Amino acid sequence: MLKNLLATKPIQPAGHVDAGEPVEGVLTGETHLKRVLGARHLFLLGIGAIIGAGIFVMTGKAAADYAGPAVILSFMLAGLACAFAGLCYAEFSAMLPVSGSAYSYTYSTMGEVVAWFIGWNLVLEYLFAASTVAVGWSGYLQGFLNQWGVVLPAMLADAPLTYVAETKSFAATSGFVNLPAVLIVAAITALCYRGITQSAWVNALIVALKVSVIVLFLAFAFQYINPANWDACHAIASSAGTYSAELIGELRAACASAPPAMSLIAPEVSSGQFGFDGVVRAATVVFFAYIGFDAVSTAAGEAKNPQRDMPIGILGSLAFCTVLYIAMAATMTGILPFPALGTANPVVTSLETYADLSWLKNLISIAAIAGLSSVILVMLMGQPRIFFAMSQDGLLPKLFGKVHPEYGTPHVGTVIVGAVAATMAGLLPLGFLGDLVSMGTLLAFATVSACVLVLRYTRPDLRRPFRVPLAIVICPAAVVACLYLFWQAFADHWQVMLGWTLIGFVIYFAYGYRHSKLRRKS
Ligand code: ALA
Repeated sequence: MLKNLLATKPIQPAGHVDAGEPVEGVLTGETHLKRVLGARHLFLLGIGAIIGAGIFVMTGKAAADYAGPAVILSFMLAGLACAFAGLCYAEFSAMLPVSGSAYSYTYSTMGEVVAWFIGWNLVLEYLFAASTVAVGWSGYLQGFLNQWGVVLPAMLADAPLTYVAETKSFAATSGFVNLPAVLIVAAITALCYRGITQSAWVNALIVALKVSVIVLFLAFAFQYINPANWDACHAIASSAGTYSAELIGELRAACASAPPAMSLIAPEVSSGQFGFDGVVRAATVVFFAYIGFDAVSTAAGEAKNPQRDMPIGILGSLAFCTVLYIAMAATMTGILPFPALGTANPVVTSLETYADLSWLKNLISIAAIAGLSSVILVMLMGQPRIFFAMSQDGLLPKLFGKVHPEYGTPHVGTVIVGAVAATMAGLLPLGFLGDLVSMGTLLAFATVSACVLVLRYTRPDLRRPFRVPLAIVICPAAVVACLYLFWQAFADHWQVMLGWTLIGFVIYFAYGYRHSKLRRKS
């Protein structure tokens, strides 16, 4: 049985793949998606998936609750872990240009049961992220509409339950369904059903809008930076933000008695906040902001020239967003003392004190609403493609492998994923899911990075159009960095994670194990 569980899917050495050609490295007799995407589409898909709730919502809390101005270092740390993992994704997606991403890479390297485990975790990354971001999108939209006097009836504005992070419990709301969240998922599902070219085109428009607004923010806010705000103790002295009297008292006392050696890093307090540990904890929070570059790899089955373009799409979008993020974090903590940034809309909050910049606030809200839509779009594109690959292998029912005769999309899977995502977004309290999304993603990153190294030894003959430089150092570094960040969140959520894994294995043994094409073939 163990031999069956660890059976790997054979990979053919990949030749050059051209538009319309069958994909290398998959079992014969499979259905293929249309190869229509170029390097520019892939680069923009990456940015579409990356820039979203992470930078527009989570940065403020990461700075105010954990890292202070050193959130800039947290962005660098998380960016470094992602850069290592991104190199590994680039090697795999150029070598094995199929739509299953981490799931397919693991199947060909570590065997079926590990592949299933990773595929199941990718549901956390894609499907759950789409629903979570849709709820964030609804919050932003309603906040924006409220400014203009448009208020939705309470019944249609919120899910019936909400999650209270402080007490880790659920509370009833006055809502019945979060209608805007359902509608955005439905609209984006319709777009994904219609075609990947149309989806990529809409994504490109949204990316142009959100990146332009971020560049405007950086260009105009830059002149208001007060470098003294990057000194954590100075920022603590000049603002109490939303902190309790005890916390601010403790921080001020710590600054007075032993100012931190590095001014960016705030002194650690008795609750365990701040200090170097706070910088690392904030890195696990802002890691969410980087999720999405790997989603580019789910479009590998539709890339015209994946061997050249996948590394450009993955690494290009990651590098571009890393630079923007570090600049955003430096600007936000530079124009406002960090304790004041712990709000639901920190970018807008950072502009509050500058009357000259008030014109930027509405633009930022529009960019955030647009930005979150493209994250939902790429996540809703990615999930059916992973299910498509799993169905092709027999691990999921055949309907996930159906391709629309005209549009060339995995249309049935798209509708099923969209329906589940819309139901979750409309009815469930998803506030607690952010960490789970990051955990599922980190496990996938660690596994892909390990697989790159394993395959270098087990299949040195495979043609690798892109190679991770110094793989013997970079791949283990990626595994360690990702598992370290995973561990920070696992301590808080291990029960949910174990429950999720258990459900996954029940489904695998009830269906996938018995229908696996690889096993039937052998
Ligand atoms: N990186 C994506 C976001 O920040 C998931 O919304």
